[in-house]
Amino acid sequence: MSQTDPNDTAGYPARAAALDILQAALSGRAGIDGALAQPQLKALEPRDRGFARALAMATLRHLGPIDAALQAKLTRAPPERVVNALRLGAAQLFVLKTPPHAAVGATVDLASPSFKGLVNAVLRGLTREPPDVADPDRLAPPWLYARWRAAFGEAEARAVAATIAEEPPTDLSLKDPAQAEALAAELEAVVLAGGTLRTERGGDLTGWPAFEAGSWWVQDASAAVPVRLLGVEPGQTALDMCAAPGGKTLQLAAAGAITTAVDRSAPRLTRVVENLARTGLSAEVTAADAATWADTRTFDAVLLDAPCSATGTFRRHPDVLWVASPQDVASLAAVQTRLLDSAARRVKPGGRLVYCVCSLEPEEGEAQAEGFLARTPGFAIEPMTVGEGGAPEASLKADGTLRILPHHRPGGTDGFYIARFRRTA
Ligand SMILES: C[S@@+](CC[C@H](N)C(=O)[O-])C[C@H]1O[C@@H](n2cnc3c(N)ncnc32)[C@H](O)[C@@H]1O
Repeated sequence: MSQTDPNDTAGYPARAAALDILQAALSGRAGIDGALAQPQLKALEPRDRGFARALAMATLRHLGPIDAALQAKLTRAPPERVVNALRLGAAQLFVLKTPPHAAVGATVDLASPSFKGLVNAVLRGLTREPPDVADPDRLAPPWLYARWRAAFGEAEARAVAATIAEEPPTDLSLKDPAQAEALAAELEAVVLAGGTLRTERGGDLTGWPAFEAGSWWVQDASAAVPVRLLGVEPGQTALDMCAAPGGKTLQLAAAGAITTAVDRSAPRLTRVVENLARTGLSAEVTAADAATWADTRTFDAVLLDAPCSATGTFRRHPDVLWVASPQDVASLAAVQTRLLDSAARRVKPGGRLVYCVCSLEPEEGEAQAEGFLARTPGFAIEPMTVGEGGAPEASLKADGTLRILPHHRPGGTDGFYIARFRRTA
């Protein structure tokens, strides 16, 4: 499903901006949010900005099949900007279904003079043999697809990969769960298990009902599960060790916990502070490396939403698939181990620790939980029950931890691994 009109022949500025987004996200590794925040995009008319974003996202969501089709037509790799222009051209032709004359002509306009002939020839060649841009065998990079097959089996890996091409709805968490039905009506949303609202609305969400009032914040349905599993009671103390931009801190504060939010990144913490101000919630906010933070307090509930390869977030950040590497997974796993050891020191006896990552990679999920239990006396898994916290039933593993895969919820959801531990001694 696309919110873009296939017959939209938005002009050169919108397509040039889409090219800048691809360059920044893929070559600059700026992350899709960083790529979309470039100043030249802000200067565009809202309609052009919307088209540029939609075109870049459609391209990234179908990049595997598009690249396979382009490689078959190219005998030598042209400069990266030309490749990115060709990718945009192919997405217009086969994803947005822009009429060929418009898609090819507009893409030729983007290319420098010496590559206009090549772009024209390659795109016209593709129109004669249209690729299957939703082929699940090609949607993921081969190295990741091989890992998912090894971890989850062939059928599950295929189902995960098929969701790469899907455009996700927007999920919202509420400050006051009692308002769910009323806000769902205003926001044209459905209420999911656990209380998340899901809407297909488009456009600038800062103009949506009750945004200014701070009644909700954007948070994927999977990302809302870990805090629910901590089960904090009003007045209990809670530590969010990797808090920015703050969705889970807001959940803890909204549940009435006396909340401390730590993050290594002071710039990212400004988002936590802004989100707390908008929602009228409060938390102590501290910039520190949570692995070495000198604070000696212990808490009733500790959340470690660790930095990770974020491969589970490809529905809204499709660039992660193409910039992540096996080396990233290994180095992030080492960081997660250090942070888990630090988290253990900060849990009160009898208290709970929830570890989670928005990664599909077992080294960052299952292996972290197993390693932690093996080296940390005084902690035990506290198994989740079926559907607890609004988690999809299919996500519950035999050991009581959760492996949420993107196809486990109708309409899709972010991939997560979540384990809950109790400090027994
Ligand atoms: C997955 S994001 C957290 C998302 C956040 N919990 C939320 O729900 O909005 C991981 C965060 O970990 C932070 N981080 C990375 N290394 C850290 C460290 N050693 N100590 C504290 N924070 C760290 C990053 O700055 C990033 O904001």
